[in-house]
Amino acid sequence: MKKCVAIAIDGPAAAGKSTVAKLVAKALNMTYIDTGAMYRAVTWATINAGLDPKKEEDAKTLLPGLKIDLMEDGRVFCNGNDVTKIIREPIVSGNVSYIAAMKSVRLALIDMQRELAKSKSVVMDGRDIGSYVLPDAEVKIFQIASVETRAQRRFIENQSKGIDTTYEEVEEEVRKRDYIDSHRDFDPLVAAEDSIEIDTSFMTIQEVVDAILKVIKEKTGLEPQCH
Ligand code: CDP
Repeated sequence: MKKCVAIAIDGPAAAGKSTVAKLVAKALNMTYIDTGAMYRAVTWATINAGLDPKKEEDAKTLLPGLKIDLMEDGRVFCNGNDVTKIIREPIVSGNVSYIAAMKSVRLALIDMQRELAKSKSVVMDGRDIGSYVLPDAEVKIFQIASVETRAQRRFIENQSKGIDTTYEEVEEEVRKRDYIDSHRDFDPLVAAEDSIEIDTSFMTIQEVVDAILKVIKEKTGLEPQCH
């Protein structure tokens, strides 16, 4: 069997990881896995069930039987419901870091993530992929940008998706998520020791993609096929 390769792309909120990870995966014909969407889906399921997303004893009642499907076309299903749009809404973004700080939730989702990376080559983005989920990943990228740059990018993205937020609200949410994500007790946001940091504040998407593809080529020999 051909050896599976794993590319981990981690970093703080709205650092542009998913945009870049999708393009890198496409260029190398790998599967893109958005682990943030999984935490967002659990957050949606908790709120939708009328449970408190700040209480672990509430959220963990949903874990047995939880089914999350990440489709090739980017759609996200949670227990059979198409949650692609709703998981980007402020009600989910504003609560997801509480859910993601719960050890029971993390362990359940990390199991699913490791399972997904077992049988295929993946580009996986998140907060803890290189540091915890896939510590043997062949390439580990830690993507950063200033908080203002990240908030500005997310604000524009929200506008294009019809999500109603002000710039100030987005900046506050990004700062809050960064704080909770990097201060939680179990499995916090941290750069893996062997990760390569890329500051994307003054880079275009294509420049970031090219920089990551260059690292992948150096480390694994894999490169995009030009036709
Ligand atoms: O795209 P954005 O940077 O806004 O966030 P995301 O990747 O969709 O992740 C949403 C939230 O899920 C993060 O703020 C974290 O609280 C949590 N998360 C995590 O804890 N671990 C991961 N591997 C991925 C996301």
